[in-house]
Amino acid sequence: MRRARMGMGRPVGRRGVGRRGVSRRDFLKVGGVSLAGAALLGTAACGGGGGGPQTADDGSIVVVFSMAPDDSGSLTSLIERFNEDRAGEIQVDYRQQPTDTGAYFDQLRTQFQAGGGDIALIGGDVIWPAQFAANGWIADLSDRFTEEMRADFIEGPVESNTYDGSVFGVPWFTDAGMLYYRQDLLDDAGISEAPTTWEELKEMASQIQEEAGTEWGFVFQGGNYEGGTVNGLEFINSFGGEVLAEDDASQVTIDSPESVAGLEMERSMVEDEVSQQAVSTYTEEESEPTFLNGNAVFCRNWPYMYGLVGDPEASQIETEQVGVSALPAAEGGESVSGLGGWNFYINAAVPQETQDAAWEFVQFMTDPEQQKFRALEGGFLPTLTDLYEDQEILDEVPVIALGGEALQRTVPRPVSPVYSDMSLQMAEQFNAVVNGNATPEEAITTLQENLQGIADQAPE
Ligand code: GLC
Repeated sequence: MRRARMGMGRPVGRRGVGRRGVSRRDFLKVGGVSLAGAALLGTAACGGGGGGPQTADDGSIVVVFSMAPDDSGSLTSLIERFNEDRAGEIQVDYRQQPTDTGAYFDQLRTQFQAGGGDIALIGGDVIWPAQFAANGWIADLSDRFTEEMRADFIEGPVESNTYDGSVFGVPWFTDAGMLYYRQDLLDDAGISEAPTTWEELKEMASQIQEEAGTEWGFVFQGGNYEGGTVNGLEFINSFGGEVLAEDDASQVTIDSPESVAGLEMERSMVEDEVSQQAVSTYTEEESEPTFLNGNAVFCRNWPYMYGLVGDPEASQIETEQVGVSALPAAEGGESVSGLGGWNFYINAAVPQETQDAAWEFVQFMTDPEQQKFRALEGGFLPTLTDLYEDQEILDEVPVIALGGEALQRTVPRPVSPVYSDMSLQMAEQFNAVVNGNATPEEAITTLQENLQGIADQAPE
């Protein structure tokens, strides 16, 4: 099974659970039947016919909820709890989706284009709202998710849900690209701080590769997929390049010396043998083993990977050996992290009663208690500001404190109703640079033309 690419596919909370002896997951499990099993058997639901809501045998309104796999178990536990609390009223039915965000998006788009489908609630990537909203596929939540409510959430994720002045989603958990490093290897080499520039990272990596014999210096996601787009953009943005003009999203401005410099730096990782050639095929899940097996000094990944460090099933290195910091910057520049994360969107095509029921579940899932549970059990970064001061969270999930810094530095991917097409182009060109099939200049020239062509097709 492909897992973890979305930063959600691994049992990241395990160590914390082990220490306390009793897992919250077990505590919450009812009746011995796992929800995943129940979902596989399907819901005994009857379609509403004539536009009414879909209902279960006991009369409750069925909310089909789509989301990628979540091996931490925290999601199914919470769905179970909600369904127990609301028995006879609402039943949330988890429909598992592909781990790859691009594949998941394609499935949803196909359903929407065919008239909406039966998925009422979407646990969806932060990059989707513009496209879904521009097509009228997801409901405007501005009235439900009031300004007062929004004020409790971190700003970036709320903004990522805002399109054309309206709010189309509620932030669930957030992600930011981070630099993982081997604290012990840096110490042995007499290096006292994590690198703050890409050049420094390369120097430190090469030194340690040579002196300590660590096979690889830096492992990242250079594959031809959404994560490859994120990594390429982190390089480009950190050198000051940008894809769209700040004040006019219809203007593609990627063709700049800064963008070329960013991709040159990305390519140089492979050319200078700091990174293995195979990073050009890597997603998050292939990046993990190189670092967790102890074969790399540095790794770029999302917060969830911290939960795997020291997990005997996934890792040969211990927590004390690993540090996390913000990503390096260009010389004289500032560190930037790609903004990732997952939100709740409601399908505009399902009946109003179903939308109301879905909203109840959204409120439940995003309230402090459930967000804290997911942080502790799965290492998912909360979207409520106050939880960053919760001592239990800070103690149990250190990456949340460390992630705080990277979170201050997030840059969203281009916000456009044609983002998915743009991303396919970027992923392809960035990948061509990483594997040496295109020079950074060639890739940027191609992108300027192709992305502008796509932007010109965007609905007004
Ligand atoms: C993570 C991020 C998501 C991003 C994906 C790329 O899941 O949260 O925003 O698109 O990684 O692989």
